[in-house]
Amino acid sequence: MRLLATFLLSAVAASPAIAQCSYSSLQQVTANYVTSQLTGDPGPLTSATTYTENFKPADISTGILAQPLRIDHNRSLHDTTQCATYTEIIVANGPAQYVIGTQIRLLDGVVNQVDSIITTEGDWIFNATGTLYYASREDWFTIPEAERDTREVIQAGADAYLDLFNDPTVDVPWGTPCARLEGGAYTGRGLPTDSCNVGVPSGVPIVNRRYVIDETVGTVDTFVDFNGPGGRPDSHEFRLEKGKLRYIHTMTYMRG
Ligand SMILES: *[C@@H]1O[C@H](CO)[C@@H](O)[C@H](O)[C@H]1NC(C)=O
Ligand SMILES: *[C@@H]1O[C@H](CO)[C@@H](O)[C@H](O)[C@H]1NC(C)=O
Repeated sequence: MRLLATFLLSAVAASPAIAQCSYSSLQQVTANYVTSQLTGDPGPLTSATTYTENFKPADISTGILAQPLRIDHNRSLHDTTQCATYTEIIVANGPAQYVIGTQIRLLDGVVNQVDSIITTEGDWIFNATGTLYYASREDWFTIPEAERDTREVIQAGADAYLDLFNDPTVDVPWGTPCARLEGGAYTGRGLPTDSCNVGVPSGVPIVNRRYVIDETVGTVDTFVDFNGPGGRPDSHEFRLEKGKLRYIHTMTYMRG
């Protein structure tokens, strides 16, 4: 028995780094993350050498992960190229309401960095009931392999939209229908003609973009500084279908 265990352990240790970033291993990471937040046990994530909340260094053992939250909805991205994940969590029915976006980065198969944007009452158009209502009606299905966009196309869609806030001449791959969920506010009216091209502020540089890209669902999440370096901690997540924008979810931290 002991010999077998030793053999299995050395087999794990000898497996190449690439095998540690399979889609299924990343799905295990996001499942563990959701369970951690559900139970208030940061244990599985304490291997992280960097932990931030709203872009500020924080203590993972006393932060949001140490509070059990009644999760109504979660959806994750798995980026096998960067060994990274992104998860959107909505808590609409607990004693406090939250919409949380978390990027996790692995190093040598181990969770090394956890960054969360935690929005609640007081943040940009915050309404978890609304977020839950609209998010759960959208279909972020797995895209058939032959129809998938490349990482480059997906990232370019995000960049074009983010660039638009500081350059009105940018060519954005608008799709129809398309809906924006910003805090708890929704632009979609359920019509085939719904567009996301319904105006953005101008003169707002969106910088320090950190991407997590999942080609299987045509989606990229970006953590950004909204309005220049050190601006508001913000997450913009984009789903594209056939190269065109289909859904956009944003959360922006405004407190403090
Ligand atoms: C998270 O999402 C997955 C996939 O939709 C679901 O199976 C799971 O039950 C969810 N977990 C929680 C705590 O809601
Ligand atoms: C939050 O969203 C729900 C669902 O769309 C809506 O019924 C409610 O009025 C909203 N609350 C506020 C304070 O806007």
